[in-house]
Amino acid sequence: MTSIQSVLQETRIFPPPAEVVARATVSGMAAYEALCREAEADYEGFWARLAREHLSWKRPFDEVLDESRVPFYKWFADGDLNVSYNCLDRNVEAGLGEKTAIIFEADDGKVTKVTYRELLARTIAFANALKSQGIAKGDRVVIYMPMSIEGVVAMQACARIGAIHSVVFGGFSAKSLQERIQDAGAVAVITADEQCRGGKTMPLKPAVDEGIAMGGCESIRCVIVYRRTGGPCRMLAGRDLWWHELIANQPETCEPEWVEAEHPLFLLYTSGSTGKPKGVQHSSAGYLLHAVITMKWVFDIRPEDVFWCTADIGWVTGHTYIAYGPLACGATEIIFEGIPTWPDAGRFWKLIQDHKVSIFYTAPTAIRSLIKAGPELPRQYDLSSLRILGSVGEPINPEAWMWYYTEVGGSRCPVLDTFWQTETGGHMIAPLPGATPLVPGSCTLPLPGIQAAVVDENGNELPWGEGGSLVVKKPWPGMLRTIWGDPERFVKSYYPIEFGGRLYLAGDGAVRDAKTGYFTIMGRIDDVLNVSGHRMGTMEIESALVANPLVAEAAVVGRPDDLTGEAICAFVVLKGERPQGAAAEQMATQLREWVGKEIGPIAKPRDIRFGDNLPKTRSGKIMRRLLRQLARGEDVAQDVSTLENPAILEQLKAGV
Ligand code: WT7
Repeated sequence: MTSIQSVLQETRIFPPPAEVVARATVSGMAAYEALCREAEADYEGFWARLAREHLSWKRPFDEVLDESRVPFYKWFADGDLNVSYNCLDRNVEAGLGEKTAIIFEADDGKVTKVTYRELLARTIAFANALKSQGIAKGDRVVIYMPMSIEGVVAMQACARIGAIHSVVFGGFSAKSLQERIQDAGAVAVITADEQCRGGKTMPLKPAVDEGIAMGGCESIRCVIVYRRTGGPCRMLAGRDLWWHELIANQPETCEPEWVEAEHPLFLLYTSGSTGKPKGVQHSSAGYLLHAVITMKWVFDIRPEDVFWCTADIGWVTGHTYIAYGPLACGATEIIFEGIPTWPDAGRFWKLIQDHKVSIFYTAPTAIRSLIKAGPELPRQYDLSSLRILGSVGEPINPEAWMWYYTEVGGSRCPVLDTFWQTETGGHMIAPLPGATPLVPGSCTLPLPGIQAAVVDENGNELPWGEGGSLVVKKPWPGMLRTIWGDPERFVKSYYPIEFGGRLYLAGDGAVRDAKTGYFTIMGRIDDVLNVSGHRMGTMEIESALVANPLVAEAAVVGRPDDLTGEAICAFVVLKGERPQGAAAEQMATQLREWVGKEIGPIAKPRDIRFGDNLPKTRSGKIMRRLLRQLARGEDVAQDVSTLENPAILEQLKAGV
């Protein structure tokens, strides 16, 4: 039984526990419905109220939503603020200076804590360091850092001076880094000498050198290197600077750069349905509001909480729920450098016990791998500090949901399946812990003010119970503003004319429960795969494969996988003869390494099959539907009438 089917047959319902309801920010379903009604009655007034209550403005706004250039919406456009002021200074001013902001646990278990006052001081020092290099408002800065306090300081320092950061996940290759530097026109890269994960150290800085050396990075003026391990690190005179040298003797104050609400806070590259990743551009005020409001509504964050989001700062989850949301709420949060399975699969549970984590937010793929590695392990730790559990990145199958709920949460803690995307800025469809009855496998209902719907291919809303395309009917403050340097692609990807140009197209399939209206996400309906919660464009992997001089043609599809959600399967036609047996295995290994170098290890295909050709229609179109069936090991005998070359199927059936 597939996961979707088991969701659709799900009958277990978990009402919110009375203790949670009693203390929640949004307490009871009536309170949730009242917020939804407020948003429906006066959409702009609703968001304006929240923006006034939850953000600190240098210059208050009067304009709320500007729809004069649809779909390039603007929110709170005549207001000024600074995001780092909202995350740091205002907490210190409110008396939280001595409160722990970040508890950092290194790979080797060493713990470092910083208070809000210290985090502000470090951010100021580094902001001044950036300024000393001539970096100013609007400049793009690429951050290629391991999980660290410094990674967050780098992001906050950019926000403080109005520079636009673009964090590149440390697992991406030199080539991917180079493409992002070039597309963003970045003036600086902030990196570290090495990173530590799972008891090993791996160099990081050489990828920066290699990436820049590939060319097209002439905009780069300096590379700032944080010394994480002190391992060997080549520094280029005149370009490379040590973080610790640069922050020494910086002034102790740095007036925040007060920016317009719409000033870009960051770019984050993500995969789409074409070969080139898109630079999703987020705003300052609207984005921050979405981060803050979801911390309060969904995570029900309170002063005494210890919040832990296990994502990497290289992904949007690490932006909204590590670098910005928790800090803007004055919370104490964990940053963890290591991996869940080292020194053993109890690492997460030990961390929760040691730091008394109360809100824990992770990905289904991590949960599934920990179930596999030790279903009994959580019982060996004291997890009684936990109050709320969250899941993000991909559908969570009901079986994993139940294990998370019972074994990790002791059947006390609501499990919040949060649906959102890089583009949405924060949660979109998610339960509220003190209001929403939970159903395993469903992300339940849209947040107040988020007008999500399921539509057919013409953009018409479908009745509950019928599957279709997930859209959002109104703009919301946290949404992306454009694709960096490519406004046309923004319009085409998210506001396609087929849908009337006014519906935000998520790119996911969804269905609403016929009785409750609860949403279940059925996965991407474009050529994007979700591997361990990471978005991978099939076209991107295909381009990487055909860039190899031995490859003539390649097609990439996904197949379901118990652990990673989806697995990448590549069908490859070589320029030379089709390899068989050991030669095919060798070639597959070589191509996997190649893709790892072109994009990053997360993009390496699990299966690679070789053919003399690919299944094509008479007009030469690759029949991906058949490839998907082949990848799953399904019988493809039927419905091949439009196939030009049926014999090719037999060849491709045989895997490596
Ligand atoms: C895609 C967005 C949101 C931060 C991490 C991923 C899938 C995300 C869920 C969920 C089912 C989910 C969707 C979406 N997705 N959360 N709770 N249930 N699917 O961000 O890399 O931008 O990927 O992840 O397919 O479109 P992203």
